[in-house]
Amino acid sequence: MKVLQLGLAVAVTAGIAATIIYIVGVSTIGQKYVLSDEDVKSLESLQTSFKKCVRANGLGLQAFSKDHCQITLGFPSDTVPKWEDPKTGELEGLSFDFNLCEALATWEQVRNSTTILTKEFIDALPNGWQEYAWRRINKGIQLNQCQNKTLCMEKLALVLPNTPPFVPRRFGRCAVIGNSGDLLKTRFGKEIDGYDAVVRENGAPIQNYTEYVGTKSTFRLLNRGSAKALDKVAELDVTGKEVLIIKTTIHDIMSKMIREVPIHNPVYLMLGTSFGSAAKGTGLKALEFALSVCDSVDMYGFTVDPGYKEWTRYFSESRQGHTPLHGRAYYQMMECLGLIKIHSPMRAEFNRNLEGLPSKSTLYAARIAFEKVLGRAGASMEDPLAACSIVKRCSEDESMRLSILRKAALDHHQYVKGATMYTLEHRVGNGMVCILPKA
Ligand SMILES: *[C@@H]1O[C@H](CO)[C@@H](O)[C@H](O)[C@H]1NC(C)=O
Ligand SMILES: *[C@@H]1O[C@H](CO)[C@@H](O)[C@H](O)[C@H]1NC(C)=O
Ligand SMILES: *[C@@H]1O[C@H](CO)[C@@H](O)[C@H](O)[C@H]1NC(C)=O
Repeated sequence: MKVLQLGLAVAVTAGIAATIIYIVGVSTIGQKYVLSDEDVKSLESLQTSFKKCVRANGLGLQAFSKDHCQITLGFPSDTVPKWEDPKTGELEGLSFDFNLCEALATWEQVRNSTTILTKEFIDALPNGWQEYAWRRINKGIQLNQCQNKTLCMEKLALVLPNTPPFVPRRFGRCAVIGNSGDLLKTRFGKEIDGYDAVVRENGAPIQNYTEYVGTKSTFRLLNRGSAKALDKVAELDVTGKEVLIIKTTIHDIMSKMIREVPIHNPVYLMLGTSFGSAAKGTGLKALEFALSVCDSVDMYGFTVDPGYKEWTRYFSESRQGHTPLHGRAYYQMMECLGLIKIHSPMRAEFNRNLEGLPSKSTLYAARIAFEKVLGRAGASMEDPLAACSIVKRCSEDESMRLSILRKAALDHHQYVKGATMYTLEHRVGNGMVCILPKA
């Protein structure tokens, strides 16, 4: 509710003449829904297939439900955890609780939204420049909450497109390649090159490893450390066309490199959704980005097989990792929610059958019920724009951009009435920011 009131206040006080901000779906936020018998059946049916899927594909993992939303994924009791929390010295546990409702509903939102930071998003957000933009600029504190907007815009200019460069379903089949040393146990190179788009991470080399990791590279997700070596990273893909996406902040060092090296690759900042502690690494961000632009997402090179001993990378010595069992369990949940397909040495067959995978209609029905449980804006409404808590009109004509799209992307575009959707960060039960086409 706070967001909405703020949005209105900004619209009124700023008196933005050319743009219309109006609010929809106010009454649906925070409202408690009553689940119908059908909803309850959908939830049960999802849990049944989900458990079956985890048992059949999880290489020892098992799922137990606590209620309609909460599930626990447990490793076999003889699993020996190797990872120790550096703060507490405790070994990693063998079972993890996840909220299926939240996972399914939130990932579905990701699939329909834009995960690249744009100017139209910051402009649409109430206090977007003061509260959001300045946090995405390193040394943001010195910018004093972007009180000088011109200065802030200058800092972001190199990485801030007006509108999203990629829309949902822009690509068909995509592969996300992690950096696990397990990649050297298989030769997935040719298979990986067969995808429509390939997403890599950080400083992962291609040259000299093509047999294992392929040659194609469309996107690269960068953490802070890699982004600081932007010049080196830009050399990893010889075509120079790889799109670089920074998941942290823009830094003067990076801007200088883009201008002076010069780096011709497109560079953007990621606008991420928060999935809590389970999902912090670059790997998950890469999956999130892929899910926001692809029909289907396959995952390679993540440490997802049992027998984890040390955190290895295919191109260097082992290093400090974090919570591998938690990660494995989370990825298994994603696979059994039909979001991704895992490829690894123990799951090397390309057309591996995912036994028990919930059907599209089961997932759909359960998601509608989940949205009600969560009190999501727009839950159970026919109109996709009912989920928007901030609506604004675009100032640009985008018909040119549309002409290059594949059919699935156009169909989706039509379904959402031409809107571009952005998720609002860190707000549960949140609505979305929606930018409608020029009137
Ligand atoms: C804001 O920043 C711009 C660009 O650096 C500068 O030219 C201008 O003087 C600044 N304005 C104020 C009020 O400090
Ligand atoms: C690939 O291997 C060659 C020969 O060993 C070496 O000179 C080159 O630096 C390697 N390239 C990369 C990117 O590691
Ligand atoms: C996402 O878009 C698809 C159509 O492409 C639609 O069927 C689905 O309901 C949408 N999901 C949400 C959460 O709006």
